[in-house]
Amino acid sequence: MDRRSFIKKILRRFFPLAGAFALGVPVLSFITYRKPNERKVVFHPGEQLSGLNFKDGVFLERQGETFYALSSKCTHLGCTLGYDVLSSQFLCPCHGSVFDRSGKWISGPAKKDLRELSLKQLDNGDIVVVEKL
Ligand code: FES
Repeated sequence: MDRRSFIKKILRRFFPLAGAFALGVPVLSFITYRKPNERKVVFHPGEQLSGLNFKDGVFLERQGETFYALSSKCTHLGCTLGYDVLSSQFLCPCHGSVFDRSGKWISGPAKKDLRELSLKQLDNGDIVVVEKL
């Protein structure tokens, strides 16, 4: 077998395999992709100050040794809420819904209270807040 026919033979076998791989990997990853159904936000001990703490879209309220977590997504259309220190209320910048500090709806187009999120405290002091998506 001369060099030219050897190279042709190699290329004839290589390109279909490379093509199948190049096409197969994205198709397989598309088929097997699953959207995550929850996300976790970890508050380390230094981020658990008394009062209201905010991290990655989660409000963590500390009252003594008790914690509860609220989603920062407005229950109307999902805008991220801001917290007004003077009135101690959550305010939606999009359409003006207002929630009290415990997440109860006060006024505006959102008619539901803020979602309370589940949390668990780890042995190392971290608090893991789980938000279902
Ligand atoms: Fe908050 Fe509309 S998204 S009031």
